[in-house]
Amino acid sequence: MMGPISIIILAAGKGTRMKSSLPKVLHPVAGRPMLERVIREAQRLNPEEIRVVVSPGTSLVVDAAQGMGAAVYYQREQKGTADAVRSAQPENMEGNILIINSDHPLIRYEDLKEIQEAFLEYELDLAVVTCELEEPGAYGRIIRQQGQVKAIVEAKDAGPEALKLKEVNTGIYMVSAQILKDLLPQIKSNNAQNEFYLTDLVTLALDAQLSVDGIKTKPHMAQGVNNQKELAMASKAVFKRKAEKLMEDGVTILDPDNTYIEETVEVGAGSVIYPNTFLRGKTMIGSHCVIEPGVWIENSVIESEVRILFGSHIDSAKIAKNANIGPYARLRPGTEIAEECKVGNFVEMKKVKFGKGSKASHLTYLGDATVGENVNVGCGVITCNFAADGKKYHTDIGNNVFVGSDSQLVAPVKVGDDSVIASGSTITKDVPSKALAFGRARQEIKENYTPKKPKA
Ligand code: UD1
Ligand code: MG
Repeated sequence: MMGPISIIILAAGKGTRMKSSLPKVLHPVAGRPMLERVIREAQRLNPEEIRVVVSPGTSLVVDAAQGMGAAVYYQREQKGTADAVRSAQPENMEGNILIINSDHPLIRYEDLKEIQEAFLEYELDLAVVTCELEEPGAYGRIIRQQGQVKAIVEAKDAGPEALKLKEVNTGIYMVSAQILKDLLPQIKSNNAQNEFYLTDLVTLALDAQLSVDGIKTKPHMAQGVNNQKELAMASKAVFKRKAEKLMEDGVTILDPDNTYIEETVEVGAGSVIYPNTFLRGKTMIGSHCVIEPGVWIENSVIESEVRILFGSHIDSAKIAKNANIGPYARLRPGTEIAEECKVGNFVEMKKVKFGKGSKASHLTYLGDATVGENVNVGCGVITCNFAADGKKYHTDIGNNVFVGSDSQLVAPVKVGDDSVIASGSTITKDVPSKALAFGRARQEIKENYTPKKPKA
């Protein structure tokens, strides 16, 4: 039995070092805001409740937290981490409380679970979660005597001996609600920063003869984000973690350091992913696909054996088996490419159903269109879907149609099955099936023509 757990997430810090108008904890790490990441991992512990401490005037943060079902508590002034925890009103909480920072985006459920288990197994009243860092920098140092944790000293308050210590405070704590209630009011602000330090809980708990220990965790749990450089490092770590997972599952990734696959993306075994690709959101890629360099795919479904060639951009589209897309294709929302299709270079499609075996190989715009099976769309074809009245109109092309190069289909317009549109046509009227449609001036020939010479 794990027993009830509640969670306090500290998110009232100003984040001034980000130098950004977006609140720090809303900055995305590998596509997902830090706060959302931390709340999501915390939720997997099935807590009684999650309380997020924010500073007043951060309505975007409030919306994000409440949108995920967390309760919001305000810390009026940033007077330190102990004051932030006090703002979460632990006096009306019960059971055990896990305290975590909102700007530690690499926190994982699996590690939080281990911390909870250790806390219960060793029957602790207070656990401070620590890790070893080669470069402990500005982190609080863990002072031990005969192996026992005795205190946490902030880097700003530490002497040269303490600064050499490599065991640091991750800023994660687990503590019984009762002890938090008893000890928080005793914390003072007589330190280098004139702040109320949560780290002082350790000495106060020891003075009260309580059972205190450090629980060691992995360094990623300590990785905080305070500036843009650390934000980039955190994103990189998440992308790397994902790439490694996919490689374990049989995906070939040529350069995992330069491949940007969000955790929400699925890729089937046997697929090959070249560098500088972004696979985002709810994207699903089947098996034995090839994704060439410089491809961006978001919220799209790609079935198996599809090749997406260099520099293509695909958003909210579906691509069925065995299709070839790109190089430099742009598939916009609502586009569905059926099996065995070819969409070539500089082809843009928006809200198009493109039937099985059809081809649009070069320089084409199709928007708001249905294209049947085995259609050949020639080079430079345009559906004129946007009319002078500001509305969009539909183009309907049947099966086995041949649309000659450099033609325009002025919507709304229908082209019946098995028809041929002559090259260079402007089609403004419906074309019946099995017809040949011309929509251009006929060629004229003037024989024996000699151009006039300019006068001298
Ligand atoms: C804190 C710890 C330090 C630890 C480090 C880990 C203290 C005194 N020090 O230092 O030992 O190694 O975290 O990252 O606790 N916050 C508020 N209100 C405040 C102040 C902070 O909500 O008034 C929040 C911040 O948004 C952040 C967290 O508390 O999520 C930590 O605050 P921060 O100022 O980054 O503490 P550190 O100096 O990094
Ligand atoms: Mg910090």
